[in-house]
Amino acid sequence: MQTYHSQNLNDTKAIGETLFKQLELPACVYLLGGMGVGKTSLCQAIIQAAGYAEAVTSPTYNLIQEYTVDSCTIYHMDLYRLQDPAEIEYLGLDDLWHSKSLFLIEWPNNGEGFLRKADFTISISQEGGNGQTSAASDSRLITFENSKKIA
Ligand SMILES: Nc1ncnc2c1ncn2[C@@H]1O[C@H](COP(=O)(O)OP(=O)(O)OP(=O)(O)O)[C@@H](O)[C@H]1O
Ligand SMILES: [Mg+2]
Repeated sequence: MQTYHSQNLNDTKAIGETLFKQLELPACVYLLGGMGVGKTSLCQAIIQAAGYAEAVTSPTYNLIQEYTVDSCTIYHMDLYRLQDPAEIEYLGLDDLWHSKSLFLIEWPNNGEGFLRKADFTISISQEGGNGQTSAASDSRLITFENSKKIA
């Protein structure tokens, strides 16, 4: 497992670039962490690192957003609003899985039983900061785990 410390959004963007380079495609990535901790921001960084130059939005309202670049097709999902995991069946995710697919899935627990297993898991949490700052610090602990490498 790798550990990164982000002090601000710019750090998170740089970490996203570093993480993108380590993804071996096809890859299914789960993003774990509480509300507003920075999952979408990190996804945006990964999508931009892949070479997508236009604006990257949050897929909260349509569950899935697709981005095609030369090297891969990224499917960014946010399952926060999913009431029932079976609702994602209509997305036909198996048909979207090919050699150049990159799945980035926020709130994967909401789709339990209907998602492929994670190849990589990214967890984000708030960090205390340096003790001088308030509780609502911008510091984040980001961990990156390659599930294929876990014995
Ligand atoms: N170090 C940091 N890394 C990432 N985002 C940060 C950081 N510090 C502050 N932020 C801010 O935190 C917010 C993170 O929002 P974001 O939508 O990425 O979170 P999220 O985890 O996807 O939320 P949700 O649970 O609603 O999907 C942004 O407003 C961002 O600017
Ligand atoms: Mg989000």
